[in-house]
Amino acid sequence: LIASFQPKVLAGKRVLITAGPTFEAIDPVRGLTNLSSGKMGYAVARAAREAGADVTLVSGPTTLATPHGVRRIDVLSARQMHEAVMAAVHGQHVFIGVAAVADWRVVNFSAQKMKKQDGGAPPELKFEQNPDILASVASTVSITGWPYCVGFAAESENLVEYGAAKREKKGVPLLVGNIGHHTFGQDDNSVILFDESGHTVLPPADKLTLGRQLVSEIAKRLERRSL
Ligand code: CTP
Ligand code: CA
Repeated sequence: LIASFQPKVLAGKRVLITAGPTFEAIDPVRGLTNLSSGKMGYAVARAAREAGADVTLVSGPTTLATPHGVRRIDVLSARQMHEAVMAAVHGQHVFIGVAAVADWRVVNFSAQKMKKQDGGAPPELKFEQNPDILASVASTVSITGWPYCVGFAAESENLVEYGAAKREKKGVPLLVGNIGHHTFGQDDNSVILFDESGHTVLPPADKLTLGRQLVSEIAKRLERRSL
């Protein structure tokens, strides 16, 4: 019901969002993941939809219900997420990378379940870096001018300093910083917005409230761009 009272600040806009963790297989029954629940990304997707956008949500494994009216594409690994995003990015006005994407995948993945041997050495995992989805999307902007890219950063310390540096490094106009172990799995969050003019601390709130604030900040910036 409340949804209908949200201002339609993204009417006619297409928004692509990643959410949740990724899962990097070790063998057919095991893998590596992280503590992201997907709640923040799903809240952003819901808020964007409430604001009138056409929303595509590329989601890692979560237990959450798809927000009403949102198109959802499920993936497991970072590489699958990268592929799904690049297949959907054409024609998008906004990309928001909320997912906690694994930085590395296991290269010596075993097609059969690994068996332990009594007294045998434990397996040694070898890693390779995953593609950077946000950077891939951001690099398409130079050609078309779109989409407007928003990153998230989960840090464990020095948020103000690391957030500002990460925004520059990623080459995105807007980045949302939070403290990873304070937000993963929680209903509430506390975030800082970084843009070219500095940073703004948002008061701690539930993730839907923060999602709506982020949507309104993005809409403001899109409007400024088109002036
Ligand atoms: N991201 C991505 N693809 C990756 C890694 C990260 O799209 N392979 C995105 C995240 O969704 C987020 C942003 O990049 O929007 C920042 O992620 P983060 O993990 O904080 O930054 P990294 O660049 O991976 O740096 P590090 O983890 O070393 O701090
Ligand atoms: Ca990372």
